[in-house]
Amino acid sequence: MRNKIEQLQDKIKMAHAGGGAERIAAQHKKGKLTARERIHFLLDENSFEEIGMMVTHRSTDFGMEREKYLGDGVVTGYGNINGRLVYVFSQDFTVFGGSLSETHAEKICRIMEMAMKNGAPVVGLNDSGGARIQEGVVSLGGYADIFYRNVQASGVIPQLSAIMGPCAGGAVYSPSITDFILMVEHTSYMFVTGPNVVKTVTHEEVSSEDLGGASAHATKSGVTHFACANEMDAINHVKKLLSYMPQNCEEIPSPLPYTASDETRPALNVMMPENANQPYDVREVIAEIADADSFLEVHKNFAENIVVGFARLAGRSIGIVANQPAYLAGVLDNNASIKSARFVRFCDCFNIPLLVLEDVPGFLPGTDQEWNGIITNGAKLLYAFCEATVPRITVITRKAYGGAYDVMNSKHIGADLNYAWPTAEIAVMGAKGAAEIIFKKEITAAEHPQEKWLEKEKLYSDIFANPYRAAERGFVDEVIEPAQTRNKLIKAFKMLENKAVSLPRKKHGNIPL
Ligand code: HXC
Repeated sequence: MRNKIEQLQDKIKMAHAGGGAERIAAQHKKGKLTARERIHFLLDENSFEEIGMMVTHRSTDFGMEREKYLGDGVVTGYGNINGRLVYVFSQDFTVFGGSLSETHAEKICRIMEMAMKNGAPVVGLNDSGGARIQEGVVSLGGYADIFYRNVQASGVIPQLSAIMGPCAGGAVYSPSITDFILMVEHTSYMFVTGPNVVKTVTHEEVSSEDLGGASAHATKSGVTHFACANEMDAINHVKKLLSYMPQNCEEIPSPLPYTASDETRPALNVMMPENANQPYDVREVIAEIADADSFLEVHKNFAENIVVGFARLAGRSIGIVANQPAYLAGVLDNNASIKSARFVRFCDCFNIPLLVLEDVPGFLPGTDQEWNGIITNGAKLLYAFCEATVPRITVITRKAYGGAYDVMNSKHIGADLNYAWPTAEIAVMGAKGAAEIIFKKEITAAEHPQEKWLEKEKLYSDIFANPYRAAERGFVDEVIEPAQTRNKLIKAFKMLENKAVSLPRKKHGNIPL
């Protein structure tokens, strides 16, 4: 018996050693943690239970049968984050560069299937050289098995991908199907084809970092939702992100304890600049409305003209979508539409109520926007709001112009409540442009066209640059003092907490992709 236990202990030691001390040292030298260290920091102490520790690959080509490592380059199992069950896989770069073999893929699939059956999130810690080159098509099949399960799990359980090293070729498609991607600055990269192939095909010279590093994907492509300073920062972001989510689509996010106090926020009464064309940072509005320090911004450096993220209101999770007047006047463009549509759909998948803070001058005009599909992309956001059945509230703080008024969670497309501040302007377009069009003849015929234009601009503005026309129609439910916004929202979301709406029976909708 003793020998048998010793044999077991030896095997566990071997599995824990991964690709060996030398490769672990090389990993550390690159500023990277090992697969097991990452799991250690991610999960609650002593909560990790490993599954598949003794699995080895089955490959026999290229002498592979002589080189086997217990676990085959990925550590899989389950544990807790802040007391809540999660499933995790962590690729071990010290074993064949974390490359994906048939058995490595099977381990990941197993974890995903268990997560779906038991209704808990999956966190993937990716650090891999891609397909196990020695295995050829078997490895490609393994990837496809994972992609298939990613899609099956989409909208059922939250799936998070932290990219802690290379992630190249088709391997990028698993993270990109998951709900959130987090990358680590300088030590992770993602691309479909690396710098060498880029150079051969397009003659462009580009480094891995510039092509697919965390900064590039956080600012230019929007592929990653978070660019984290280091691995610990990424791990802490994963934990925080999960805290806003339920375990699965059948649950609601657990609220944090909250003691009611005076919810009036006088600072909001002086938040709007005197001049309606002056910018302000909508994050300051969010900070006043949400529970203290509760806002976690998603996609912070991408499409900055719209701000999205999670927050808490009286302890309960909400998703916030807010036009950002401090960037491009908060206009809606291709990237802002795509970014916010995806966020709205995530919140709707997982029963996270939506708050929209609206101050939008409209859609951005121009050939760049039209040729890059603002029609289709703007429709994504419209579609996402229209189909969302979670509690939805809009607060129009200032501009709500044109199609953007409809798109930004208007009552017409299913918002439950629509509040407006007295500073709201709800119209087809800004007064200046409107006056120019509808009073064109009068303005050109006038002795002093400029003065006539100003006069007509004022006329249009007096009629429409306020929230009362919309309130008369019931499109706005209440015009509120800004200082009361938090108070009103806490009560309204509480009132809506049992909202139940079902969509018409269908296989699935056809969102304009
Ligand atoms: C098998 C691999 C491997 C792979 C790395 N290794 N990638 N083994 N299959 N894909 C092994 C190396 O042989 C080496 O083994 C160890 O991992 C570390 O690799 P190094 O090259 O020494 O590390 P580094 O210098 O940090 O470079 C990392 C790397 C590079 C950039 C990832 O290894 C690399 O370019 N690998 C190939 C990447 C690739 O082309 N993959 C296929 C992509 S296509 P030893 O024994 O020396 O420690 C793809 C298709 C997926 O993935 C399609 C899905 C649909």
